[in-house]
Amino acid sequence: MKTFKGILLAGGNGTRLYPLTSVMSKQLLPVYDKPMIYYPLSVLMLAGIRDILVITRPEDESMYSALLQDGAQWGVNISYATQPNPGGVAEGLLLGETFLDGSDCVYILGDNVFYGAGLSGFLTAALANNVGATCFTYSVSDPERYGVVELDEACNIKKIVEKPVTPPSNYAVTGLYVFDKTAPEKAKKLIKSHRGELEIVDVLNLYLRDEKLTHQKFNRGVAWLDTGTPESLLEAALFVETIEKRQGYKIACLEEIALKNSWVERDFLKQRAEQNASSSLGQYLLKILEK
Ligand code: TTP
Repeated sequence: MKTFKGILLAGGNGTRLYPLTSVMSKQLLPVYDKPMIYYPLSVLMLAGIRDILVITRPEDESMYSALLQDGAQWGVNISYATQPNPGGVAEGLLLGETFLDGSDCVYILGDNVFYGAGLSGFLTAALANNVGATCFTYSVSDPERYGVVELDEACNIKKIVEKPVTPPSNYAVTGLYVFDKTAPEKAKKLIKSHRGELEIVDVLNLYLRDEKLTHQKFNRGVAWLDTGTPESLLEAALFVETIEKRQGYKIACLEEIALKNSWVERDFLKQRAEQNASSSLGQYLLKILEK
């Protein structure tokens, strides 16, 4: 089986969240009880990915590396690269080329929250079946705000349309993608869009042209939340709080995923839990370690 590397994009200026983002990078802001970046990181870990590149603005790198360190505490290897100007989501493929070193990758935006039963199995199956690129779509009530897929009768992608006035479907393209090793080469062919950015949709369209783009629909049991505006950030936090309080399980608990993946030892986790026993995370870890 192929091994995939992960790229997590945590640059951008987060202008819609100003002034929250005036001195703090968006992906470090809290979503209820943990920093936003934990959520996409948990998705990569649930997909079984251990080599992860986090791309940040240069001025934020030290904060991200203080928070996430080298990833050994969760049994993963985290390295860092910087994006001096927010040149678009697809620029991460160019910045990550050396890190990828010819590997296939899972590419995820740092402000996307995914949660749902069976996510891990769904993702590992998508990786195993990937030929070219896979995007993940999600039914939304307001498709005109997103990149939207137009599907043919066989449910294959015909086209991806950015923020369509008349959406061809309700299926929005989420901020999670699987790419084969040709992605950086494809990104080199892009020209900047009218917004002055290298667009990820243009990378997807290059795969589509080669008939190598498939999509996987998240079903209605999965939550895909956006955190880019004050309202959506609050809604995401309330969603996480509601589920965690009701179920007694944490969402995006990196230590728990690492334990389930057998990437860390129980004793090591116990020590970390005891060091943080006054926090809800520490108490949660002590509880799951007892079981
Ligand atoms: P966006 O929400 O498109 O941009 P942004 O985060 O800068 O926010 P705003 O629109 O409010 O100014 O970005 C989506 C994700 O991709 C987010 O996690 C930041 C990341 N990103 C980068 O890392 N580099 C970039 O050049 C861009 C455009 C986004």
